[in-house]
Amino acid sequence: MSTESFICLDGGQVNQIASDHHPEVTLSLVIPTFNEAENIPTLIRRLNHLLDENHISHELIVVDDDSPDKTWEIAREMTEEISSLRVIRRVGESGLATAVVCGWAHANGKFLGVIDGDGQHPPELLLDLLSKFDEEVEVAVASRHLPGGGVPNWSSMRRLLSKGAQALGLLLLPGTVGRVTDPMSGYFIVDRKAIAGCDLQPVGYKILLEVLARGKINKVAESPYYFQLRESGSSKVRAIHYLHYLRHLLRLRVDPLRSQALVRYFGVSLIALVIDAVFFFWIFEGVGWNLTRSALLSGEVGIIFTILLLDLWTFAGRPARNFTDRFRRLLGVQIALGILLVGRLILINALITWTTLEAFTVFLIVLIGTSPTGHLLGSRLTWRPTRR
Ligand code: GDD
Ligand code: MN
Repeated sequence: MSTESFICLDGGQVNQIASDHHPEVTLSLVIPTFNEAENIPTLIRRLNHLLDENHISHELIVVDDDSPDKTWEIAREMTEEISSLRVIRRVGESGLATAVVCGWAHANGKFLGVIDGDGQHPPELLLDLLSKFDEEVEVAVASRHLPGGGVPNWSSMRRLLSKGAQALGLLLLPGTVGRVTDPMSGYFIVDRKAIAGCDLQPVGYKILLEVLARGKINKVAESPYYFQLRESGSSKVRAIHYLHYLRHLLRLRVDPLRSQALVRYFGVSLIALVIDAVFFFWIFEGVGWNLTRSALLSGEVGIIFTILLLDLWTFAGRPARNFTDRFRRLLGVQIALGILLVGRLILINALITWTTLEAFTVFLIVLIGTSPTGHLLGSRLTWRPTRR
């Protein structure tokens, strides 16, 4: 913890956040900036006024990466006028997400937040986000993808890229990306104790991903908002940031702490596969049902086991909010795997017709070939705790 109003950091990244906070500071709000000289004065005044008016003790921490337009200097000059304002100038360092971690590492508040420095995030929403912590959540996220929110001025290209990035994230990191409707959000507040002591090593823009993946997060709340037009200057998002995003996803994916979950995904897949095969063998060879009926029944038995295992084992740490929610998830898996089963039956029959392979061999080939993808897709796309 520190309280200097101006800090200049020359090299050295910070990635740990202390667990103790100043008893008198409720919110530490980090404003990462790069060439926002024209936007920053208005935003700081608006934020300070809003929080003062609502009696929220706070500090505003501008983290500027040595902007050529001297954003840091303009902000520093304002520290005399606004006592809650602090400025960090990082020299020789860049990146939105690491700037946020750096700001939090120097913060004193109980709650740690982030807001863009260009006015695209409406400050008033902060009150709504803060109120979420009354309900024992660890993170409150401003979302553009809830009813009541949106992105008014994006080109269809950027919309498409954003959707694609989200879908990719869902496939690679369903347990992280699937927890919120707007995983790309750069506007949120987290309870310090949820990330204190964690090793935060984000790459690129998406600091929320890092918080959701590495933090001790039980409950997440979201509030809708409209992404405003930029007041001045232009977005710093470049093609390279999509690569950063991919690197970030992969880095979180291979993290040893998280691979346990992967073992459970494949474990379920494997157990269901064995049950399916044994059951098929029994009714096809033993009872003497025909191929399609045997494969259909054994497939359904496999699905029921999958559902039970996912619910009681793989996702046990993420219980459903209520019965309807739980039922909807289970039905989702049933539907996804049911469709896969139909595809499997068609494939089995086609192979029987066109090849000279034996029925049981065909069954096994198709089962083994389709099962991992099916289970992964089915369980991941339907197991999104905050899906609405
Ligand atoms: N310190 C620092 N270093 N700040 C940076 C850097 C950097 O390398 N790059 C960008 N920023 C600052 C900008 O000055 C701005 O205040 C904020 O980070 C967001 O950057 P923009 O370039 O305006 O991003 P955007 O508007 O396209 O997207 C933002 O909002 C989205 C919606 O919440 C980002 O925050 C996205 O991550 C987010 O999805
Ligand atoms: Mn912006």
